[in-house]
Amino acid sequence: MSVISAKFHKEAKAVVFQGDCRQLLQSVPDQSIQLVVTSPPYNVGKSYEKHRRLDDYLADQEKVIKECVRVLRPGGSICWQVGNYIRRDKSGGIVPLDIVLHPIFSSLGLILRNRVIWHFEHGLHCTKRLSGRYETILWYTKSDDYYFDLDSIRVPQKYPGKKHFKGPKAGQLSCNPLGKNPGDVWIIPNVKHNHVEKTGHPCQFPIELVERLILSMSRPGDWVLDPYAGVGSTMAAAVRNGRRGAGAEIEPKYVKVAKERVKAAAAGLLKVRERNTPIFVPTAPARGQPVRLVVPEAVQIDPASDEKSTEQLRLLQKRASYGVKP
Ligand SMILES: C[S@@+](CC[C@H](N)C(=O)[O-])C[C@H]1O[C@@H](n2cnc3c(N)ncnc32)[C@H](O)[C@@H]1O
Repeated sequence: MSVISAKFHKEAKAVVFQGDCRQLLQSVPDQSIQLVVTSPPYNVGKSYEKHRRLDDYLADQEKVIKECVRVLRPGGSICWQVGNYIRRDKSGGIVPLDIVLHPIFSSLGLILRNRVIWHFEHGLHCTKRLSGRYETILWYTKSDDYYFDLDSIRVPQKYPGKKHFKGPKAGQLSCNPLGKNPGDVWIIPNVKHNHVEKTGHPCQFPIELVERLILSMSRPGDWVLDPYAGVGSTMAAAVRNGRRGAGAEIEPKYVKVAKERVKAAAAGLLKVRERNTPIFVPTAPARGQPVRLVVPEAVQIDPASDEKSTEQLRLLQKRASYGVKP
């Protein structure tokens, strides 16, 4: 059987549907999806967008969100990633979409678990307001009994070998040897020129971003759905991690790339910026000197560490392979 199916069926490994997401959603059985991850279009003038009045846009989103809730399992999650809607009137004002979308999710009984801030460095340079350098991910669950595997997405501790120096725990590690909770502010480079994952899509998800959601909110074999699939980052990340991925995309040119990326993921050949790769922080070079890479304090390795945890070591080794000296 081919890796990719054009229509939804439960035994498929991946579904890439060309067309309107509501059509795909209609074909998905109730309570069959563990995780919905998506970034809908939000009227910022991208090539694939038609301008909509905010009320029309929200009414349209409500229909899609209702369908996503119907197909979601009781222990499942929905992650809706959005930025600002830009008013096309004289005011040119912004409307943070998470604020106006939240009432829709909560009226459908969903429970907000986190509002993750995704911070990135590159984007439009505004002249009449501050340049936008973050977007948000609204993470909702369908019930209070939901799947969440924090250990699968821990990040290196700042001081991995630090121990309690007094009291009943003296000598024991004072932080989790598996790494720390990544928190609700995620610094992950957005996919711009020179990014290893760059395709022709103007705003694709970095694989690392979707992977954090997929690893922590679904199990191997589960279905992960993206109604606005673009070039298939969600499905590719799902397949790369042993999940099943389904998505709809209306633009044929993006569907083609999505299929290629899902196939590459299934073959273990998808190009990705690996998780926990340190962020490059160039400093002003001295005259005639090349730009130097500085490792932010947050990812420095404590030289006194005698950490034995395999997971922590795996994370440390990854950093070492990027040339960071312990
Ligand atoms: C913000 S982009 C998503 C990019 C995606 N996260 C990725 O990594 O490639 C939104 C996508 O939704 C698509 N789209 C817009 N309306 C749609 C609809 N009704 N059904 C399916 N796809 C739609 C657009 O063509 C666009 O590629």
